[in-house]
Amino acid sequence: MTDYAPMIERAFTLEPREQSYVVGNVEGEIPEFIRGTYYLNGPARFARAHFNYRHWLDGDGMICALRFEGGRVRFTNRFVRSTKFVAEEKLGHPVFRAFGTAFKDSGPASEFDRLKRSIMLESPLNVSVYPYRGTLLVLGEQGLPFELDPVTLETRGEFNFGGQLNDVSPFAAHPKLDFDTGEMFNFGVAYSSAAPHLNLYRFGEGGKLLYRKRLPLPYPCSIHDFGLSQSYAVFYLSPYILDMEALARTGRTLMDSLCWEPGRGSLLLIVSRETGEQVTTIPVGNRYCLHLINCFEKDRRLTVDVIEMERPIYDQYQVVPDLFTDVCEGQPVRFVVDVESSELLKTTAIDYRLAPDFPSVSPRQFTKPYRHFWMLGISATGRRGRKFFDQLVHADWDGAAARDIYQAPPAHYLGGEPIFIGHPHDERAGAVICQLFDAERIAGAFAIFDAFDVARGPVALIGLKDPIHLGFHASYDPINL
Ligand SMILES: [Fe+2]
Repeated sequence: MTDYAPMIERAFTLEPREQSYVVGNVEGEIPEFIRGTYYLNGPARFARAHFNYRHWLDGDGMICALRFEGGRVRFTNRFVRSTKFVAEEKLGHPVFRAFGTAFKDSGPASEFDRLKRSIMLESPLNVSVYPYRGTLLVLGEQGLPFELDPVTLETRGEFNFGGQLNDVSPFAAHPKLDFDTGEMFNFGVAYSSAAPHLNLYRFGEGGKLLYRKRLPLPYPCSIHDFGLSQSYAVFYLSPYILDMEALARTGRTLMDSLCWEPGRGSLLLIVSRETGEQVTTIPVGNRYCLHLINCFEKDRRLTVDVIEMERPIYDQYQVVPDLFTDVCEGQPVRFVVDVESSELLKTTAIDYRLAPDFPSVSPRQFTKPYRHFWMLGISATGRRGRKFFDQLVHADWDGAAARDIYQAPPAHYLGGEPIFIGHPHDERAGAVICQLFDAERIAGAFAIFDAFDVARGPVALIGLKDPIHLGFHASYDPINL
């Protein structure tokens, strides 16, 4: 099998050190309007004692921060002290079953292969990170967030929204913050085979839980993300079915408890933000969606922009470090729907099929009409062999094109959702921050691009003292300095 990601194993066998320092190695010019803190979460360590984790989602969450202040950049990174991390550090071996790794044959199940309350995974909190009401929340695939100090990244503990949720409340990794209203929405799936449903949460500007609604699902499907427009919460349901009983009773991993059943079809589930009640469902074929790009309403039409994949992608996150061996094609797709008549009026796709993921828009344009977005892609998609993200793509719905693409040099890999930072006084100017790993030199950097000319390559490179893990999701807090 051809290796399309030479030396990528070097990014998955790092022993990250916790550090905080002013970066001395900056090449190029950091745009002066970048004043704030960029955060990145991702799985950072894939071995404990002599056990190796199999799946990209299994590693312990580590947060990186770049604080742009006074013409300098401070880098800080720390592991999240999740319940899982603390217990396993203390005992020096795995304690909990992970997304793609089980330990039932490694010793007494009570020592190595625990589930939280015997029913769910104890999260390594390795997926996303969001500033929220003066604090910093880190999230995993399911379970409550933990709260960190936004400057030192020290873990403060589980965040239960002031006692409004409890530690088994299902809570997904992609809460949506509406900057105009100050509201936060999120969801969590209850995977009961008899009565699968999703919980939708709405928190008001002051952090009060305004409602928790239970919406029935046609099947107990894995849902990772959702969309928000000014009036609706939008879910793309794909028939990626989770057998929760198998996870709890048979010792299977979560990965092995998932089954793709495309014959059941995919749906858009549209919910009123105001009431939390279902408005309609609209069939949209039988593809899989991990991430949505953005949603908005215009002229009484709802636009739902998503990344559609031919099939699910979690099986391509293993076996570490040989990822994306058979990754399928995907595409950014725009659905325009008439909510009142439940009609799908128009479908448009952007002709970029190289397993795109981690889409990102300007925070100012979240829930609003917009043209531009950014995402990562894998140039060797369609060819069998391990591979990794090596393209940064700037796409434009106007003309439905992805003409502006940065191709990383050989043995360089891109990590983390590309984050757009807009120029405060020029709507058409901005920068994108993305992680860059040089596998040959085993060196880590953050690259800053002109958001509207990424093909030109980085305008600045922030070189780190030590390499860091490849991340998942990122965010930016424009601190008023
Ligand atoms: Fe995600």
